[in-house]
Order: sequence, then structure tokens, then C-alpha cells
Amino acid sequence: MSINQQNLYDFDIHIAEIYDQKENHTQDIELLLKLLRKKGKLNILEPFCGTGRILISLVLDGHTTFGIDQSQAMLQFAQTKIDRLPNDVQKRIQLKCADVTGETWPTEYDLVILGFNCFYELASAEEQEFCIYQASRACASGGYIYVDNDHMEGELDTAWQDMNHKYVYLSGICKDGYQVKNTRETIWFDIKRRLARFDRRYQIIAPEGDIVEYQFFQQKHPVSKVEVQTWLEKHGFEILAVYGDHTANPYHEHSKKAIFWARKR
Ligand SMILES: C[S@@+](CC[C@H](N)C(=O)[O-])C[C@H]1O[C@@H](n2cnc3c(N)ncnc32)[C@H](O)[C@@H]1O
Repeated sequence: MSINQQNLYDFDIHIAEIYDQKENHTQDIELLLKLLRKKGKLNILEPFCGTGRILISLVLDGHTTFGIDQSQAMLQFAQTKIDRLPNDVQKRIQLKCADVTGETWPTEYDLVILGFNCFYELASAEEQEFCIYQASRACASGGYIYVDNDHMEGELDTAWQDMNHKYVYLSGICKDGYQVKNTRETIWFDIKRRLARFDRRYQIIAPEGDIVEYQFFQQKHPVSKVEVQTWLEKHGFEILAVYGDHTANPYHEHSKKAIFWARKR
């Protein structure tokens, strides 16, 4: 089970709605659809599936998906979107609420997606490697894996070391008038081990002004390109491509992203 006992998305459905409002980009989905062209209809596993941003697009493209997420709120929000899809499409989606670091993942998938910075949800390199190990078990022989993270090499980003800065993320107003205010402050870091711990707080403010405040701690390890590459190779994947962005430009040392497309041997 993860050292991070709670995550940002666990507490309240409003945070799921704000996530869905703000993180509505599709470039990663377009890259995935390009990679899947001419591969037929696949059976896809997406741990950290959240509100189904990626998963729903893939089902609409004809694939069958199984999504796992720790947050009941994110899955509930995903389900409201799934309920609006045609019945035959709905039948090709399954969701499960679970901590992916404490579960054995289901097996025999044609593709496992570790999308949109999901490794930034995890507390350590060990937890991240465990996900690659689980993905390898979950993939059928010849199956694919897609791993997509921001590219943060070298020393811990200076912004992560700044203990005086309040970083504002996923804040906004929901359809029912509730306001979400969400902040993150560094409380500890270890440059050599590339670890940082954050005090995270968010407020849910009702239209009448009542405020509910949540607070929790989270540890992060900004995964490096070399780590992902090493783990993929160690756990039986052949790396087919490493992209530096979602338009499939090749990775280089100044790339914003390190996106791996690999195949289980
Ligand atoms: C940044 S969101 C990404 C959602 C989705 N993959 C996307 O691309 O839009 C990260 C998701 O990971 C989930 N998560 C974080 N830690 C987790 C864990 N240990 N087990 C399962 N899900 C987790 C959160 O609840 C959240 O929904």
C-alpha cells in the first residue's frame, strides 16, 4: 500500500468536477489513437483512470477498457459520463476502486496505459517500479505499454524546493456554485534522493459561504527517463519508441515529456 495514505482526489466529488473542467486536453489521446491505428480492437487496462478522460475516448474508438482508481469521487464522476454513452459502448467499460500499489492487477491485456503523469501520484521510485512490474504481469505476451510523464531530470526542480511558495492547482467553480481552492506547499525535500513532501490543503466553499477544509500530506518522486527505461527493460518490455511530446517528436534531453511506447517480449 502507498506511503501516501490519501490523495487529492479522495475527498469530494467537486474536486473531480474541477479536474474534468481543467484537464480536458486531448493531445495524449490523439497520440494513443495514432499508435493504436491498424491494431484492431484491444483489451485495455488503465490504472489511475480518474474521470475516464482517456478511457472513454478509447472505448468510443471501439476498444474494451478496465479502469482502476483509488478515488471513489473520480470514479463516480467518470460513471456519470459513462451513463450518457450508448448501451453497447457502456458494456465495454469496467471500473474498479482500488489502490494500485496494494492490488494485483488483472491480466491478459493488449495494452496497459500509465498516462498523464500518474507516477507523480506516487511516493517513491519503489512504488513506481512496482507499477511497471504489475503492468508487465498484466500484459499478454506481445501486449503494449504506454507510459507518459513530464520530463524532470537532474536535481529536484527548484520550485519543489521552495518552502515559501504556495502552489495553486485545480481551483475553480463547479456547476452547482461550489468553489474549490486548492494549494500545495513543500515541507521537506531530499535533493539526492529526488523526494519532496507537501502539505496539501483544499477548501470546498458552498454558495452560501460554508467552508469545509481538507488537509493531508503527500510525498512525490519525479521519475526520470532513465528510471522508466531501466524498469521497462528489467520487467520484460522492449522499448519501441521514446517521444518528447504528444506530437510524437523523438525524445531529447530538453524535451518536456518522456513518453514510452514499449512491447512485452
Ligand atoms: C492526474 S489523475 C489522472 C487521471 C487520468 N489518467 C487522466 O489522464 O486524466 C491521477 C489519478 O490517479 C489516482 N490515484 C492516485 N494514487 C493512486 C493509487 N495509489 N491507486 C489508484 N489510483 C490512484 C487519483 O485518484 C487520480 O484519479
